[in-house]
Amino acid sequence: MNINKNYENLEQSYLFSTIAHKVNDFVAKNPDKKVIRLGIGDVTLPLCKAVTDALHKAVDEMGVQSTFRGYGPEQGYDFLREKVQKYYQNRNVELDLDEIFISDGAKSDLGNILDLFDKDNTVLVPDPVYPVYVDTNIMAGRKVIFANANEENNFLPTVDKDINADIIYICSPNNPTGAVYNKAQLVEWIRYALERKAAILFDAAYECFVSDENLPRSIYEIEGAKECAIEFCSLSKTAGFTGTRCGYTIVPRSLGKLNKMWLRRQTTKFNGVPYIVQRGAEAVFSEEGQKEIKENINYYKDNAKIISDTLNRCNIWHVGGKHSPYIWLKCPNNMNSWEFFDYLLNNAQIVGTPGAGFGRNGEGYFRLTSFGSRENTIEAMQRFEKLFN
Ligand code: MLT
Repeated sequence: MNINKNYENLEQSYLFSTIAHKVNDFVAKNPDKKVIRLGIGDVTLPLCKAVTDALHKAVDEMGVQSTFRGYGPEQGYDFLREKVQKYYQNRNVELDLDEIFISDGAKSDLGNILDLFDKDNTVLVPDPVYPVYVDTNIMAGRKVIFANANEENNFLPTVDKDINADIIYICSPNNPTGAVYNKAQLVEWIRYALERKAAILFDAAYECFVSDENLPRSIYEIEGAKECAIEFCSLSKTAGFTGTRCGYTIVPRSLGKLNKMWLRRQTTKFNGVPYIVQRGAEAVFSEEGQKEIKENINYYKDNAKIISDTLNRCNIWHVGGKHSPYIWLKCPNNMNSWEFFDYLLNNAQIVGTPGAGFGRNGEGYFRLTSFGSRENTIEAMQRFEKLFN
């Protein structure tokens, strides 16, 4: 047999695995030190009550003959797809149920969707951005080019008509920078994609953090998007489902064959999200669930403010935190991203994510997450301030 040689073109390990290894090493050597993890964007607040009540009820149903369920529909139960449909309707986006696909999270679908595209496509990825977009395309041997995001364009690359891209990734609010495209900027990307007959893969995993009603939370709020864009969303950050696993992907029928192809792909390679989890996800969209998750999101936003206020006092340039759970800062004293990672870990036992892990333009920057507990966020920022103020 021949192995897939494209894997040789990947970084040695996935960004967050590399960080986890480094932190585990540190902890093994310094068992007495309390490490505060503000690296990977993993939530710390528990699932809300509306969700756990629904989960318990679903577990009980599974233990009773008359309500037990086996295989479910690969694309998700209608009870959940209808809730997602309603959620979009609240933002004036009309979707048919067969355009909504329930998944085990955005990360898997962002990788799996590439099954639908020929290897011979050029992929445009913002730099810096979530590393999964690049890695999954490298694995498939696809050509990846980059759209530069930097301080000059507020980390929001604009359309360059001279660039020939067939698949375009957009992550808004952006991971790692927290930058959000406004409607006019998305209009430009949609126009470009329609002209080129390109596909936009829109990652909306952080939409619930957008606090300005005028900023789009779904690309389908913009006319023409249903003719060129697939949208990915997840309950991981919205409702604390990082360990529970549930998300949804929208493949509009107006994308032609792609909708049927995705159904074909999912029915062949995926057996659906567990019934119990889908019942928990359904509860996220209930009145009670929405109220409870908003409280959690506000808690994380208050953490972001604590981080941002600290950085202001230390005179450290940063953005983000307002429409996203991430704070994107410039490494102090001209340190590069990994130097700063080591420095913070060794001197303050704070774990963050080196900007260089998100792309070349991330070098010299660093990402902190607001998903920690309040207590840990405050303690981390006190330690930080001791070093830099
Ligand atoms: C991150 O820290 O960038 C995210 O948690 C990664 C993910 O969502 O897979």
